Amino acid sequence: MSDGKKATITLDGQSVELNVLSGTTGPDVIDIRPLYKQLDVFTYDPGFTSTAACDSDITFIDGDKGELLYRGYPIDQLAEKSHYLEVCYLLLYGELPSATQMEDFEHRITHHTMLHEQMQNFYRGFRRDAHPMAIVCGVVGAMSAFYHDSTDIDDDWQREVATLRLIAKLPTICAWAYKYSIGQPFIYPRNDLDYAANFLHMCFATPCEDYQVDPILSRAMDRIFTLHADHEQNASTSTVRLAGSSQANPFACIAAGVACLWGPAHGGANQSCLEMLREIGTVDRIPEYIARAKDKNDSFRLMGFGHRVYKNFDPRAKVMKESADEVLGLLGIENNPTLQVAKELERIALEDPYFVEKKLYPNVDFYSGIILDAMGLPTSMFTPIFALARTVGWIAQWKEMIEDPVQKIGRPRQLYKGATARDYADVEDR
Ligand code: SDX
Repeated sequence: MSDGKKATITLDGQSVELNVLSGTTGPDVIDIRPLYKQLDVFTYDPGFTSTAACDSDITFIDGDKGELLYRGYPIDQLAEKSHYLEVCYLLLYGELPSATQMEDFEHRITHHTMLHEQMQNFYRGFRRDAHPMAIVCGVVGAMSAFYHDSTDIDDDWQREVATLRLIAKLPTICAWAYKYSIGQPFIYPRNDLDYAANFLHMCFATPCEDYQVDPILSRAMDRIFTLHADHEQNASTSTVRLAGSSQANPFACIAAGVACLWGPAHGGANQSCLEMLREIGTVDRIPEYIARAKDKNDSFRLMGFGHRVYKNFDPRAKVMKESADEVLGLLGIENNPTLQVAKELERIALEDPYFVEKKLYPNVDFYSGIILDAMGLPTSMFTPIFALARTVGWIAQWKEMIEDPVQKIGRPRQLYKGATARDYADVEDR
């Protein structure tokens, strides 16, 4: 919405007047689309620190207030009162569902959880020690080879079916990546279990005996899914949007998001954070690592700390910390040494001037690994679980972009600093 506000850029005596657009909340944006044509210059913003790449109605973050809203609902209220599939409905369709709408949505998701039987062959092509993210990335991309009837992005119904298939099948894909890595048989999804319990059952059940999912763990797992569901235009979501802008099929776009999320600066931080906490090992070694994190000559960073947008507490970390206390307490392992190191590390860091000045707080990845570890999941499964949970955010943002009538292929420019035009030199003349 342009409410008449303008911004003027003047360069070499030439001025261009640009519209200032306002959303419902958050910073206004300067619409720089006429800039290149009128002033023959680009803007420059590596890392997109000051760039809005799109408009969206889905998720809002206020980094200074430490606020995260899914379709206007605060994340702490959703984590406490809602559940993941209801949050999926909210992110996809914009409103909380009625009881009938929820029942119908849950029925449709439940009846899409199985994988095409032939997809098991994909797993058997990987080494047993393949990182589960490599498997998840490959199998999600391969979905476009099995579900041709939901790849036409211009068909509303096919977009809807692809959306349901992705949300429904990611738990099966991730659980099977885990089973494959430990040499156990795949466990099929069950329609009598809820979403989170089904995932844990596929991870931990065996054909040899009945396996009862602990309701404490499935509630904690469901909450972890909710906390990771969407997060505005983060790196992996922006990757999905850029891939989708070329009109690639939805499975290829989500596979691109999985690949981007894997990085330790992004979704891979939950694995790196737990490995870091284990490496620190005891509270007395924390100062050594704080010093390394502050040392400009040391590439070490406190994993699970800092955020591009949050310059206050990550609201998800606050809920995750409460959940870690609750889950480990209920499991009778509240004295878990890794949790003690995490809490002391957080306390020391938040009192240290370096972290205070740079506004570095624990992020969503700081405590999540402690809960997943307490559930018996290996660190290699932490990022696949992040990808599983974020799939609904990726596909909701992809859907919003595809259904935006003005969307066009994303094609950034550059500040070129290479060689200018020169003639080819024969090898004898070089
Ligand atoms: C996720 O974008 C999202 O929304 C992502 C996410 C989502 O839900 O999608 O929230 C999920 O990715 C959470 C972040 C997980 N990553 C980590 O925990 C890895 C550790 N954190 C850092 O790598 C870093 O904080 C980032 C990548 C998260 C943010 O980096 P920025 O915004 O580019 O900040 P920066 O690298 O420019 O850091 C600013 C300053 C630097 O010091 P100076 O150069 O100004 O002197 O803070 C320092 C950094 O050196 N700094 C850290 C630090 N993070 C930043 N110093 C020590 N330890 C850290 N963790």
